[in-house]
Amino acid sequence: MKVQNISFCGHLNYKRVLKGDLSFNPQRTYIVNETSFFRDMGTVEYEKNYFEKNLSNKPDINIVIGGCSTGEDVWTQKMFLNDVDGVNVLGFDLSNEAIKKAEGGHYTIRNTDFFTNIYDAYADYYLAFDGENPLTQKQLKYRSLFKDFFREVKYPDMYPSKPSVLDGGERKYFVIRTEKNSVPFIQENVLRMQKFIRHGVDAFIFKNSLYHLTTYDLEHELQNIRPENELKNILNDFTDNVKAIVCKNGLFVLGAHEKDHKEPVKTILYGLLEKGGFEPAFMEDGMVTVWKKAGQSLLRFFK
Ligand SMILES: C[S@@+](CC[C@H](N)C(=O)[O-])C[C@H]1O[C@@H](n2cnc3c(N)ncnc32)[C@H](O)[C@@H]1O
Repeated sequence: MKVQNISFCGHLNYKRVLKGDLSFNPQRTYIVNETSFFRDMGTVEYEKNYFEKNLSNKPDINIVIGGCSTGEDVWTQKMFLNDVDGVNVLGFDLSNEAIKKAEGGHYTIRNTDFFTNIYDAYADYYLAFDGENPLTQKQLKYRSLFKDFFREVKYPDMYPSKPSVLDGGERKYFVIRTEKNSVPFIQENVLRMQKFIRHGVDAFIFKNSLYHLTTYDLEHELQNIRPENELKNILNDFTDNVKAIVCKNGLFVLGAHEKDHKEPVKTILYGLLEKGGFEPAFMEDGMVTVWKKAGQSLLRFFK
């Protein structure tokens, strides 16, 4: 009984999301805002190499990050591409609450690795570690990039001791003033991108988010994928929007969330992207996590 109600609710929500009705309150539906800095670095490293090799003579590289949640994904791109010239980044998310937090630029990092074995979303715990902790070369590199963009909140005198690493405490950071206003964050819907993004973008990133559209709104049953006819409509709308905004030789970064590549989503989505002129650019564990918009349509490969 309860399950039926909730899934009916999910269906209604999808209809409203599809129309781009932002008066619909996203907080009333089930939205996963979990995220972290330096997540999915395989794809981020790929993007950076791609931009350096292929777009180095472009005056601007325009990157749009959908489903950006509280902004960690956006800042990761900014920090990582800091030495690539002319990078512009826009972040958007359906959740107004997440966007307000992103605009605030304050972040709390748990300096314990306890959660990292459970949730990918806490993968940035090491950013708050003290110098003597054994970190990998990559972790050291990412932490150094982080320190160029973020400052630690100083604890007032009444709390003289900061929570220590051993306590598994938290540390708070804020984005530095010179960077804070460099990224617009807006509340928007991925299914409306054609309406609010006018120019072709060099990379559209929508990582770990697509399953919000492809599964019913059941809190503990995210495996509950919509029926194929519904999926086809949703994924058609989604790929139409991606096609419309990404320019020739631009990238669509889907990321490696297993739910976004689960059958039948995988077959339908990959087929639509290929028909729409995208080709696989980067794979992880059998999943195409980055797609490139080919110079010419691949339609000729389809009957
Ligand atoms: C799990 S978070 C992923 C955050 C980040 N991209 C990452 O990889 O860590 C998924 C985000 O997708 C957003 N989202 C869901 N449906 C959306 C839609 N139709 N348009 C834009 N954002 C959406 C949610 O609000 C949520 O913040």
